[in-house]
Amino acid sequence: MTTGVVQMTDWLERVATRTARVGIIGLGYVGLPLTLLFSEERFEVTGFDIDGAKVARLNTGESYIHRIEPAHIAAAQKHGFRATADFARIAEMDAVLICVPTPLNADHSPDMSFVVSTMESIAPYVRAGQLIVLESTTYPGTTEEIVAETIERVGVERGVRVLRGGGDELDGVLVAFSPEREDPGNLVTPRREIPKVIGGVDARAAQAASALYGTVFQRTVLMSSPAAAEMTKLLENIYRCVNIALVNELKQLCERMEIDVWEVIEAAATKPFGFQAFYPGPGVGGHCIPVDPFYLSWKAQQYGFASRFIELAGEVNESMPAYVVERTKQALEHRGVALKGAKVLVLGVAYKRDVDDLRESPALRIIELLAGSGAEVEYHDPFFPEVGHGRHYALNRRAYPLTEGMTELGGFDCVLIATDHSAYDFERVVEQARLVVDTRNAARGIASGKIVRC
Ligand SMILES: NC(=O)c1ccc[n+]([C@@H]2O[C@H](COP(=O)([O-])OP(=O)(O)OC[C@H]3O[C@@H](n4cnc5c(N)ncnc54)[C@H](O)[C@@H]3O)[C@@H](O)[C@H]2O)c1
Repeated sequence: MTTGVVQMTDWLERVATRTARVGIIGLGYVGLPLTLLFSEERFEVTGFDIDGAKVARLNTGESYIHRIEPAHIAAAQKHGFRATADFARIAEMDAVLICVPTPLNADHSPDMSFVVSTMESIAPYVRAGQLIVLESTTYPGTTEEIVAETIERVGVERGVRVLRGGGDELDGVLVAFSPEREDPGNLVTPRREIPKVIGGVDARAAQAASALYGTVFQRTVLMSSPAAAEMTKLLENIYRCVNIALVNELKQLCERMEIDVWEVIEAAATKPFGFQAFYPGPGVGGHCIPVDPFYLSWKAQQYGFASRFIELAGEVNESMPAYVVERTKQALEHRGVALKGAKVLVLGVAYKRDVDDLRESPALRIIELLAGSGAEVEYHDPFFPEVGHGRHYALNRRAYPLTEGMTELGGFDCVLIATDHSAYDFERVVEQARLVVDTRNAARGIASGKIVRC
């Protein structure tokens, strides 16, 4: 534990010599991989989480995230990694990176309860000379309004303040925002190659964060303020959300016009400038794209501003599961089968290919709508042998067992491809199924009258 006033040069020296102690709060899809990256750089990392089961599993060397092997946890442990639920240990850290959830409430307003409760738990232990970075995606203003505000409010009696301008002496807390920009399931761009955007409450906070992240990430991008960095992350995800909505809408028009939207997008993507390909699907899922844009539209309202692109994109994307179910109904009726009573197998429930993440997955809504229409629905997903209940769903069922030959598919009136996991052999799916509704163009290149692309 550090005592006395820390000098900026000493702080940077600790990072350079890997003697700085790094605390990571929230050991989920973002926090745990980040922990491992800092451990790989030989930092002694302490992971903090309120979930006692996660803490216990990590300390016995287990992983609960599919793409993280127990060997990765063991390697981190060799560099001193331990998980804990004891927030008093925050005082021992030189840097604390916060990676807790930022979901939406039912009315599309930000649920900041995880960030707020994290700050309330750590603020009594935060001290001068520490760097506190918020990584959770959030609306512009959060780092100042919640992180810095809580540190100063709770720390007032101990004389703890947030650093704002000054010299080499770190007689306050360095506070910054640095969004996580990971793309789960993306095996092409290693996480270290994704530049780390950083906005500090003051220049020293940005410099300290840049030095720390610079040990792991190939490039850091320093911004003028936390709010600008918060807005940058939202822009990235809104850009994606709006463009996906655009192709989802175009897909519906193309179907009416009997034009293959996938063929159109592939051709447009050959343009070497001015066009980036986005692909339609059954809706959007995950913790980011369906959620983050609403963080900005909520904040915009406080400025008397209506963010129309965000609202429209949300509307289009959220309507997609109902559209898929309607198309499935039509496809079944075309074959003389009513949706009510039809046996439907939904293939893939994760929100996208090859991830073990169900959050906001459109497949869950599709299952709900199919069941609500009287269909007998089963699902299969190699990542989810069973699905219980979550924040916005209650499926409570087990995956339908499929053998390698997938002969069981013939027992269903329809197989609906909701997620195109690479573990699936789609030629075999088409071969065995009676009818395939393909929302992901997974059966591209397969010529068969059984396939309905939607
Ligand atoms: N998952 C992604 O791919 C991704 C990508 C970019 C950004 N983000 C953002 O990163 C943040 C974290 O997302 P995630 O996917 O890792 O979430 P997650 O749900 O996988 O993990 C969050 C962890 O925080 C813990 N936690 C909750 N409240 C806590 C508290 N008060 N103190 C300590 N721990 C607490 C939970 O137990 C959980 O282990 C979110 O803001 C998200 O929008 C996520």
